[in-house]
Amino acid sequence: MGVLIIGGGGREHAMAYALHKSDMAGDIYCAPGNAGIAQVATCLPDLDVTDQKAVRDFMYDNNCGLCVIGPEQPLVDGLSDYLRSEKIPVFGPSQAAAQLEASKSFTKQLCDAQNIPTAAYGVFDTADAAKAYVEELGTKCVIKADGLAAGKGVIMAENTAGAEAAIEGMFAGDFGAAGAKVVVEEWLEGEEASFFAFCDGENILPLTTAQDHKRVGEGDTGLNTGGMGAYSPAPVLDKDMCGRVLKEIIEPTVKGMARRGTPYTGVLFAGLMITADGPKLIEYNARFGDPETQALMVRMRSDLFANMIACANGEKLDNTVTAWWEDEVSVTVVMAAKGYPGSYEKGSEIKGLEEAAADPMVEIFHAGTTEKDGKIIAIGGRVLNITARGKDIIEAREKAYAAINKIYWPEGFYRKDIGWRAVERLERGQGKN
Ligand code: AMP
Ligand code: GLY
Repeated sequence: MGVLIIGGGGREHAMAYALHKSDMAGDIYCAPGNAGIAQVATCLPDLDVTDQKAVRDFMYDNNCGLCVIGPEQPLVDGLSDYLRSEKIPVFGPSQAAAQLEASKSFTKQLCDAQNIPTAAYGVFDTADAAKAYVEELGTKCVIKADGLAAGKGVIMAENTAGAEAAIEGMFAGDFGAAGAKVVVEEWLEGEEASFFAFCDGENILPLTTAQDHKRVGEGDTGLNTGGMGAYSPAPVLDKDMCGRVLKEIIEPTVKGMARRGTPYTGVLFAGLMITADGPKLIEYNARFGDPETQALMVRMRSDLFANMIACANGEKLDNTVTAWWEDEVSVTVVMAAKGYPGSYEKGSEIKGLEEAAADPMVEIFHAGTTEKDGKIIAIGGRVLNITARGKDIIEAREKAYAAINKIYWPEGFYRKDIGWRAVERLERGQGKN
């Protein structure tokens, strides 16, 4: 049975790599794909994924029995609902269930209804009301555009003046329609980590954990990006803490979504703050993370296709379906075009990728690349994901950076400190990761 993956970033390359290893998956297609994905799948740069009928026709014509939706936008646009109505199994939630990512106020209200630990908050549709709540909190807080804002609609306000400026900006349209409603939140202190689980609408298959680096600069400073690196597992989420996340956050979410008549299927990606009082939900994503997925997929030893088709068919993720992981640590270092996340040049050539990937513990997942006359050309902001495994974070990091040293791409840059928190933790003797 063929598989169609929607997307063309490092996350989709990592999923294509894992699906390619499955004995159950047939031909793999990816729309649009990229130069790296082309090594394991047929890329479809001309298939317009916003044309839902064209996606259906491609799948019928090419015997594809599973559509895997990588990014959030097609989910929010209802691609999964349409394909399901045409009897095509889809890995990814319905438009209604994707509200968990598309509307922060929806998720907060679900947290209230299900007693899920999260930051105290208020939702507002006027600046005055939002400012009054900031006064009430009386300290630093977080201001968020309610809707999807490409990861940019969150402003950490150190003081009341900053919070008020952020609120004014959002209601003035800084984030377009996403800011028509504004969420004001308590600022949570702790360590962030991500937890992933497959869901079939009713049952949950917990996966593993990861931590990412959102800021562009070393020491987690500078502008927010889509993610400059990640590692898996996240040592702060030890076994006990994972048990709490499952019981206190994931299970009540899946139950609450089913009870509302919007059952959640696909992967649930929880962004968490591990506070002194335990885990609290920061946000949900209705899809896999990028670059977290790259770090996850190199550790996955079970069959991704079997997991995905079980989620898609609502076939009970019971104990006949498992997910298991190499007891190793993985690190992904993102190489981006100089200037990212601001403006950057396209069209430079990247050399040395084969030598860099020669170590069997290293995989290079492509994001913004294309192939032209046998050359790999950078055409995006985030361009490559150098991913390595090792017995601990230090070994995995050494391998990732050794691979980067073999890549010749003067127009690119990367952070040299990916995984620093886990390294410090290991050096303090807390945990083997
Ligand atoms: P979000 O898009 O909601 O995940 O927010 C982006 C980032 O902002 C998160 O990864 C956190 O680093 C930070 N953040 C969001 N909400 C909070 C909060 N209530 N307290 C502390 N940090 C937060
Ligand atoms: N790396 C964060 C995300 O995919 O949303």
